[in-house]
Amino acid sequence: MVPDTLTNHADSYPHLAHNNGRLNRPMAHVMIQLVKVCKEYSVGKTVQALRGLDMSVEHGERVAVMGPSGSGKSTLLNLLCGLDEPTSGIIKVDGVELSSLGDDDRTRARRVKIGMIFQTFNLLPTLTAVENVSLPLRLQGSARCEAEERACAMLNRVGLNHREVHRPDELSGGERQRVAIARALVFRPPLLLADEPTGNLDSVTGDEILNLLDDLYREFKSTLLLVTHNELAAARCDRILTLHDGQFVKEERLAHTAAKSL
Ligand SMILES: Nc1ncnc2c1ncn2[C@@H]1O[C@H](COP(=O)(O)OP(=O)(O)O)[C@@H](O)[C@H]1O
Ligand SMILES: [Mg+2]
Repeated sequence: MVPDTLTNHADSYPHLAHNNGRLNRPMAHVMIQLVKVCKEYSVGKTVQALRGLDMSVEHGERVAVMGPSGSGKSTLLNLLCGLDEPTSGIIKVDGVELSSLGDDDRTRARRVKIGMIFQTFNLLPTLTAVENVSLPLRLQGSARCEAEERACAMLNRVGLNHREVHRPDELSGGERQRVAIARALVFRPPLLLADEPTGNLDSVTGDEILNLLDDLYREFKSTLLLVTHNELAAARCDRILTLHDGQFVKEERLAHTAAKSL
């Protein structure tokens, strides 16, 4: 069974594209909610990657997650996008409790709700730029012609209309990340997750990518969770959360107050 909130979003997709699904939805203001989320890995010995995380992110918020290597940042993103399941605790994305869904519905939820951007771009090497960007729409069931038309418009928006038929190995790092951003946003997901999106780019190109993300985040009225080591990138966000050993140890609200210890 697909929960109502999910089918509503998928069925009325063009309409919701303009309001981010804010209307007629339970807990409409909360995009991400975590309650006491734990994640253990058992490989020989048990590793506690996340230790009782509580977290709430509102629609339209831009939150940075920082923390040293091994603190649990990627584990958190994997759980949020439904690629992995928590050992215990509750995760809700846009009102849908991911852990209550079976594998197929969780995958479908991800395809409708979450755009993802990675440090290593994760484009499919044998597909052209327009085919990579079309992919999420094709997986949602769009006809090829319609999907490619929307993909071309999105590539145009990220400044790559002249690179539509290029494959990833024919593009620079910055261009690859632009394709990946176009792919993440082409279906207007309410939530955008980015894992070190500038980590493989030089600082000038990284700044261009952050500026583009800023513009698109506003234009698409998205919610952004940005994992980063880059303090300047984090400083663009509304809030910075610091992870250490699987727990949040600091929260900084940039618009209002100074840092406080948790
Ligand atoms: N698939 C896995 N199997 C076993 N241990 C893992 C796995 N993924 C992550 N870990 C462990 O969980 C902890 C958190 O890892 P990770 O979420 O990748 O941290 P970060 O992204 O902050 O560097 C680390 O101790 C890491 O070794
Ligand atoms: Mg990581």
